[in-house]
Amino acid sequence: MRRYSRITGTGSYLPPRRLTNADLVAELAQRGLETSDEWIVERTGIRARHFAAPDVASSDLGLEAARLALQAAGLQPQDIDLIIVATSTPDMVFPSTACILQNKLGANGCPAFDVQAVCSGFVYALTVADAMIQSGAARRALVIGAEVFSRILDFNDRTTCVLFGDGAGAVVLEASDTPGILASDLHADGKHVGILCVPGHVMGGQILGDPLLKMDGQAVFKLAVGLLDKAARATLDKAGLTDADIDWLIPHQANIRIMQSTARKLKLSMDKVVVTVDQHGNTSAASIPLALDHAVRSGQVLPGQTLLLEGVGGGFTWGAVLLKL
Ligand code: ACO
Repeated sequence: MRRYSRITGTGSYLPPRRLTNADLVAELAQRGLETSDEWIVERTGIRARHFAAPDVASSDLGLEAARLALQAAGLQPQDIDLIIVATSTPDMVFPSTACILQNKLGANGCPAFDVQAVCSGFVYALTVADAMIQSGAARRALVIGAEVFSRILDFNDRTTCVLFGDGAGAVVLEASDTPGILASDLHADGKHVGILCVPGHVMGGQILGDPLLKMDGQAVFKLAVGLLDKAARATLDKAGLTDADIDWLIPHQANIRIMQSTARKLKLSMDKVVVTVDQHGNTSAASIPLALDHAVRSGQVLPGQTLLLEGVGGGFTWGAVLLKL
C-alpha cells in the first residue's frame, strides 16, 4: 500500500509586541523617515506586525508554535522522529535552529535540520518532510517556519522595513494510508540572487558586507506574480486536479496585491484566499504555517478540504504544495 503524509496538527506563535502602522510611522519619524498608514495599506495590505524582544530567537518562536501543533495532534515531543525548521534568520551561524529547538522541546535524538529557501522555506520543508515520510525514513515530523526578520531590517530604508514581521508556525506531518499531501512543485533560479538578499557574511570574526535586507521590490513583484501561477498549475496537474478543486489558497503573505493577482489567475475569488498579511506583515518562512494555523483554529479551513499552499522568496525560490487537510 502506498504511504502518504498528512497534517495532523497545526500551531503558531506571535511575539507579544505588536506595532500598528501608526506605531511604526511614529518610530520611523524619529529617524527622519517619512511614511504613512495609507501608503503601507494601499501598496501592501499590511496594517500591523509583531516584533520579537531582543533576547528572543527564531527557536523560541518556533518552540511555542511546535508545542501547540503537538498538542493539536495529541502527541508528545518524544513521538517526533524528524524536525525541519525553515528559517532565514537562524539563532546562530551553526548549529541549526532545528537542533536548538529540538533540545528546548525535549525531542532529542531524531534528525533535525534547517531549510534555507527564504519565503519559500515552508513549502520546501514540507515537501522534504513529505518525501522522507513517503520513503519510510520518518513517521512523525515537525515542520516549522520561524523568523525574526526584524533583526535584518534596515530601519533607515522605508521601502523594506515597513513590510516584514516576526513569528512562527508549525505543523505535525504524520504517515498515513490516505493523502494528505497530494503533490508539490519546487523551483529556484539563482540568477536572481541580487534582487532580494542579505549580502553580508561572517569572516575572521567580523561581518563583511551589508548584513541588512536589500530588495528590488518591483522586480520581486513581477517575478512573483508569474512564477506563483506556474507553480500552482504544475502542482494541480501533478495531482490531476483543476482550479475548481481548490477550497482554499494559502499563499505566502507578502503583499495583498500579489495574492489578489494569483487568485485572479487561478479564477478564485478572494473569499477562498486565507489572508493574514494585514495583521502579521511578511513573516517569510513563517507566513504560510501561521496563516494555516489561524485559518484552522478560526474554523475557516475545515478537515477534508483541499488547500493550495504557495510561496516565493529570495534565491529566487518558489513552489507550491497541494494537500487535503
Ligand atoms: N512610505 C511612503 N512612500 C514610500 C515608501 C514608504 N514606506 N516606500 C517607498 N515609497 C515611495 C518611493 O520612494 C516611491 O516614490 P517616488 O515615486 O517619489 O520615487 C514611491 O513610493 C513608489 O515606490 P515603488 O517602489 O515604485 O512602490 P511599489 O508600488 O513598487 O511598492 C513594494 C513597493 C510594496 C515594495 C512592492 O514593490 C512590493 O510589494 N514588491 C514585492 C515585495 C515582496 O513581496 N517581497 C517579499 C518577497 S518574499 C522574501 O523572500 C523575503
